[in-house]
Amino acid sequence: MPAGFRMGISLLVVFLLLLLLPSIEMRRQRKGRGPKAIRQKPTRDRVRGAGRHSRSGSFRLVELPECSELTESGDVFVDCQDRRLLSIPTSQTWSKKPKHLLLAQNQIKVLQDGAFLGYESLTSLDLQQNYISLVEEEAFRGLTHLTTLLLQHNRLGTLSEEVLIPMPNLRYLRLYDNPWNCHCQMESLIRTIQVPSNRNLGNHARCAKPFKLKGTKLKQVDPGLLCKESHPTTDLETDPISSVEPSSLRSKPNAINSCHTYLFPQVRMDCSKQGLTEVPAGIPEDVVYIDLSHNSIRHLKARDFQSAISLRTLNLSNNNMEHMDTASLSGLLHLHELDLSDNSLHFVKYGVLEDLYFLSQLKLGGNPWVCNYSIHYMVYWLRLHPGVRHSGLVCRSPPEHTGERVEKYVSSYNRECPKDRQNSKTDQDQTDPELWNTAMEVHGEVEEELEPSNLRAPQKYDIIRLS
Ligand SMILES: *[C@@H]1O[C@H](CO)[C@@H](O)[C@H](O)[C@H]1NC(C)=O
Ligand SMILES: *[C@@H]1O[C@H](CO)[C@@H](O)[C@H](O)[C@H]1NC(C)=O
Repeated sequence: MPAGFRMGISLLVVFLLLLLLPSIEMRRQRKGRGPKAIRQKPTRDRVRGAGRHSRSGSFRLVELPECSELTESGDVFVDCQDRRLLSIPTSQTWSKKPKHLLLAQNQIKVLQDGAFLGYESLTSLDLQQNYISLVEEEAFRGLTHLTTLLLQHNRLGTLSEEVLIPMPNLRYLRLYDNPWNCHCQMESLIRTIQVPSNRNLGNHARCAKPFKLKGTKLKQVDPGLLCKESHPTTDLETDPISSVEPSSLRSKPNAINSCHTYLFPQVRMDCSKQGLTEVPAGIPEDVVYIDLSHNSIRHLKARDFQSAISLRTLNLSNNNMEHMDTASLSGLLHLHELDLSDNSLHFVKYGVLEDLYFLSQLKLGGNPWVCNYSIHYMVYWLRLHPGVRHSGLVCRSPPEHTGERVEKYVSSYNRECPKDRQNSKTDQDQTDPELWNTAMEVHGEVEEELEPSNLRAPQKYDIIRLS
């Protein structure tokens, strides 16, 4: 069959091009543009051309990844996040051996045996937010150095413990938000992740099936029961009891379940547009950036960000927020950027901003700031922290000040209204600007001495820890 033969040849040629072009292209571009963010568009165009030469009209275009290769602190990263990939790009594609391979948010469905051959240098592999429903037993063959494997937000119902055997150094395994079917095939995996020394394997993952185990954490399933003969009738009998259980899950939203976590280029959580009415609990310690915008959080409560000690950017914009408790931002010693824009704030309570030693950006626009005595705290705090760039601090009411900058209102108040000032003597310790000034300066000095010097050093992100 000469026609079939010819087509076979042209497919082979396309295949070879697929293998060879990326590395050639990368090297070529590398010379011209330096090491950062290498795009592979020209390659893809050429492959399209090759596709057109094929005789068969139904030849499927193969999308090549437009990934970037970066080196940070000596580690090579390959970033292929959100590139519509259907499979793992071959390791020859890259000019150096990557240590971190980021494949989050693609359309990968199956991890085949040997899928990562050539990637033996990897220590972390991010496969979250794909459509993976099958991992073949030898899929991770060769990944002997891997310490971190992220499989959360996929479609896995089952996984055998055999899959983990090629990765003796695995310490962090994320499996949550997969529809786990807790049946006999899962017994070995469940036993493995329940070994006490494997405390960072499979945390937060829960069974979706069978009904009587729905919502139970894999860490807490009794593995001894999984392979017992189960009679369909007993399953039905226990239904009413188990259907009561999931209500406890609904209490306070948990950050791990409500948000998407990314590790690159920094540990970041995207919790925007999740319908949250409060700040989710359990924000991991190493999260550097959290986006809580476009939710329905009306009230920030004390210690809402207690665990988020590495946070540098906090985005709370578009939340109808009316109140922030005095200690709601306490502990955010590293915060650089705070976005409070487009909320319903009238003023910021005395003390709310006191922990924000390193703040440099504060976005305040789109709030109905009320220019009365309560807003003075904000202005005094800004005066004491001249390094903070801020925007959007404009009076919306009362009508005589609408549209005026709040700072201008406060200075004219201090110049013109000594009588008003006397009226508000009731709780002077909090509201007398002169006293804030001294109190805060003293406070600042003491803290500076107590603070370990490493808090002041610029932080490097740490890609590995996420617990
Ligand atoms: C916060 O989120 C809003 C809306 O998504 C966005 O426009 C804004 O730039 C973000 N702010 C920061 C500081 O990232
Ligand atoms: C300023 O206005 C806000 C909002 O109307 C109100 O809650 C607050 O008590 C007022 N502060 C003073 C000192 O009048």
